[in-house]
Amino acid sequence: MKVTKAIIPAAGLGTRVLPASKAVPKEMLNIVDKPAIQYLVEECAMAGITDILIITNRGKNVIEDHFDYSFELEENLKKNPSKKAIYDDVHAVADLANIYYVRQKETKGLAHAILTAEAFVGNDPFAILYGDDVIINNEKPVIGQLIEAYEKYGKCVTGINECPTEQVMKYCTLDVTDLGDSIYQVHKIIEKPAREEILTNFAILGRNVMTPDVFDIIRQTPPNEASGEVYFSEAISTIANRGNLLGVDFTGRRYDMGDKLGIVQANCEMALTHPEIGEKFKNYLKELAKTL
Ligand code: UTP
Repeated sequence: MKVTKAIIPAAGLGTRVLPASKAVPKEMLNIVDKPAIQYLVEECAMAGITDILIITNRGKNVIEDHFDYSFELEENLKKNPSKKAIYDDVHAVADLANIYYVRQKETKGLAHAILTAEAFVGNDPFAILYGDDVIINNEKPVIGQLIEAYEKYGKCVTGINECPTEQVMKYCTLDVTDLGDSIYQVHKIIEKPAREEILTNFAILGRNVMTPDVFDIIRQTPPNEASGEVYFSEAISTIANRGNLLGVDFTGRRYDMGDKLGIVQANCEMALTHPEIGEKFKNYLKELAKTL
């Protein structure tokens, strides 16, 4: 079955990047000349996804404005022939996909946010892209790499990469079997492992393709005792234990826009490849590096 739907949870508080995320959602923080969430919507469109549900909350209306036509601005740009390219770029943003919105009324974590997408998803498989996780691959979008695995095996798929041990200890470690073509069967997940518990350096990062039974799995997952929240990672673990989870060792450059260093790295690296400012920025960096 073809995957044509995606959800982007973007209702978190973004506490790690305050005060930048106080009035501007972290998903709208800038990478050179586009907000982070636009890169995600472009990735979806490149992978053949036509319908995207963005999960928002109070104070995130700017996301809706960004993916809408901006009549006054566009009329103004249209009047000036030298601004034609800018007009085309601005206008095209609203036509990337059919975008829908739902509000997560209480910030009760990622799993709770995903449940708000149940009516939108219906009986179809769907992609999940975390709103603050920008992953760039301009030839082969990462969510497309996961969709290919779903279409081949018909199982749920999660994005994985080999990470440094310190990162694995913060995220998770996976017991896997190599199925070829960068696809792995995931047998077991250990969250936040101690060094001696590490099974492989593969960890789960930022992208999933799920089937609608994930909603029941989330509902059946007991909340964490300390936080009272249901963890989505627990639901993914259940899917793995049932033999229904694949991992795709994806190819792409990942930036964590929920982290201060991640934001700066994203801007620096994307600026270097930008057609308009890339060369100038490279020269600037070379000069700056001499002073470090
Ligand atoms: P994070 O855990 O990275 O987001 O969630 P956060 O809670 O905003 O982070 P900090 O720790 O406070 O800085 C991953 C994705 O899930 C969304 C976030 O917006 C982010 O894109 N999310 C998180 C929700 O939609 N709802 C939630 O209740 C929590």
